Amino acid sequence: MILYTTGTGNSQSVAVRMAEMLDDKAVAVDYETSRVEARDEKRLIFVMPVHSWGPALFMMRFVRRCTFDKRYTEAWAVFVCGDNCGNADKIFAKALKKKGIRLVAAYSVQMPNNYILMKGFGIDDAELAKEKIANSELRVSQIVAAIQGHADDSVPMYTRGTKAWLKSGVVYPLFARMAVKRVRFRTTDACVSCGLCEAVCPTHNIRLVNGRPVWGKDCVQCVACIHRCPKRAIEYGDVSVDMGRYVHPDLQQNLHFVKTKDTQNTENE
Ligand SMILES: Cc1cc2nc3c(=O)[nH]c(=O)nc-3n(C[C@H](O)[C@H](O)[C@H](O)COP(=O)(O)O)c2cc1C
Repeated sequence: MILYTTGTGNSQSVAVRMAEMLDDKAVAVDYETSRVEARDEKRLIFVMPVHSWGPALFMMRFVRRCTFDKRYTEAWAVFVCGDNCGNADKIFAKALKKKGIRLVAAYSVQMPNNYILMKGFGIDDAELAKEKIANSELRVSQIVAAIQGHADDSVPMYTRGTKAWLKSGVVYPLFARMAVKRVRFRTTDACVSCGLCEAVCPTHNIRLVNGRPVWGKDCVQCVACIHRCPKRAIEYGDVSVDMGRYVHPDLQQNLHFVKTKDTQNTENE
């Protein structure tokens, strides 16, 4: 089973491609699931974006909350980043270990950047985004080969970047504790009350009040709402005003976040 979470579709595209290649299923993790059943002999694989040089908080919550079938003793993780991952692998391995699961290997895939919540950042230009998406195809094949035991040892499979201990050991915990509480999203007059932001928010943190989204205090900064708004009607304070928006060209809205009671009712069955 390939469990994934995504903000803008990069991780979804990796998970879906891996599922095709491994003849497995890609399942978007949700807020309700508390137990993950092993349905067959297939592997347990996690695919998630890197946030602040750590695993996406929504996936961390999922792992902490869930009970995993005892047959799952091993897992693989794929970190989908814009540049590099720091020690996201080690943080995730620790969380899995508490569940009695050994992280066999971690891989990274570079995909277009989607961080637009702070000055100095922004999405990649169209050419770079296209190049990263094109390169990701080969990368995913390499990852699948490695998982199947045919790793090409000459290819580095995880991009840690520099000062990983600082980024993941200091910045990520700060992000987890503080940044997520600074919910500065707002809507502009372009909002047409379609409710997509409410539907795609993994933590159910957005409610439409008088037709306009209102954000609560449980944001994991997945940035789905701000990028996926079809009218570009969401801003983050004033920081995002001059920044572009991004979604993966193959994003399947209905695959991202469908509320299921357990992972057996997968949305792409
Ligand atoms: C809150 C936040 C923090 C991020 N931090 C990192 C990071 O530390 N390193 C990195 O390479 N990319 C970082 N990114 C970029 C994403 O990891 C990257 O764009 C990823 O492909 C998004 O995947 P998704 O479309 O599945 O959400 C960050 C994005 C967000 C929203």
